[in-house]
Amino acid sequence: MNQPVDWDSLTFSLTPTDTMYITTTLDGAPWTPGNLQPYGDIPMSPAAGVLNYGQGLFEGMKAYTTSKGRIVCFRPEENARRMQRGADRLKMPPVPESIFVDAVEQVVNANRHWVPPMGKGALYIRPLLMGSGPVLGVSPAPSYTFLIYVTPVGPYFKGGMSAIDLLISDHHHRAAPGGSGGVKAIGNYAPGMKPSKEAKAEGYAEVIYLDAETHSHIEEVGAANFFCVKNSVLYTPELTGTILPGITRDSIIEMAGSLGYDVVEGKVDVASALEADEAFCCGTAAVISPIGSITHEGTKVVYGDGKPGTITTQLYDALTGLQNETEEDNFGWIHPLPQD
Ligand code: PLP
Ligand code: COI
Repeated sequence: MNQPVDWDSLTFSLTPTDTMYITTTLDGAPWTPGNLQPYGDIPMSPAAGVLNYGQGLFEGMKAYTTSKGRIVCFRPEENARRMQRGADRLKMPPVPESIFVDAVEQVVNANRHWVPPMGKGALYIRPLLMGSGPVLGVSPAPSYTFLIYVTPVGPYFKGGMSAIDLLISDHHHRAAPGGSGGVKAIGNYAPGMKPSKEAKAEGYAEVIYLDAETHSHIEEVGAANFFCVKNSVLYTPELTGTILPGITRDSIIEMAGSLGYDVVEGKVDVASALEADEAFCCGTAAVISPIGSITHEGTKVVYGDGKPGTITTQLYDALTGLQNETEEDNFGWIHPLPQD
């Protein structure tokens, strides 16, 4: 280990670890399994497609130490498939699922001592796929790099399960129909930095984006999906191509159904979201983060007493219990690391 980690004060920030995984493909050749190498800078042409035209994708997943004393990942094949869909959209060669999952296993295994103890956080796994070869015209790069690095992380929003205050963005949208909002394109994220920073400067944890066509439906919360609960029914924006199909979102829909709740995927207009009993956002980094208030056009609407709602808490406990293996995995979502 390069440096000791204080597991009790982990935040969602980068701690360089020991080992990363990397593989490249040239001139349309099929992907081949890559290698582990020391974590560090990578050489790249100034004319790389990713640097010039943003031909790149990332993924985000986590490895956990569980109550069974082992290290597991959560649905890694879903991240592999989402990256494949993104590769298709950005004209990159998709990484085969077997290479992706094997790479995740290898890199987590090589960095096992960076996985926080149960309940203290997780090892965040960051796969990247990029056009790394040089290209001048706006066209796909001649070669591609797939790499994965990992870093131990704590809560994405300060305070973990404490309810967050959000601001609906009135001047910016995250994605438009026909664009790249439905895939994890790196270029989707920089335009969100200005609205996010401005909201944070005013004391909000993040912004909520509305749809670009009518500016009346909720799409997403920065880098997390949105849910609200009214009369014990869950509502979440439908996947229309402008919203990232979150793996946490999908898991919550299934878990809520198995707990007996109805879940409606549809258009979630702002007015009805503001009248809901509970609201939360979810993602790999955000886990399930209760929303305490939403501010829209100068009016702040507080949910309940500003504390996490009952159903939000029940879903949080179910999801984290499954990931920590304190609850039975009835869905087959836990992916243990092979023992070496
Ligand atoms: N929405 C956006 C824009 C994201 O970047 C993420 C994070 O990956 C999510 C939603 C949540 O997706 P997941 O649950 O797969 O992490
Ligand atoms: C994730 O939840 O994994 C994300 O990608 C969110 C963010 C750090 C971009």
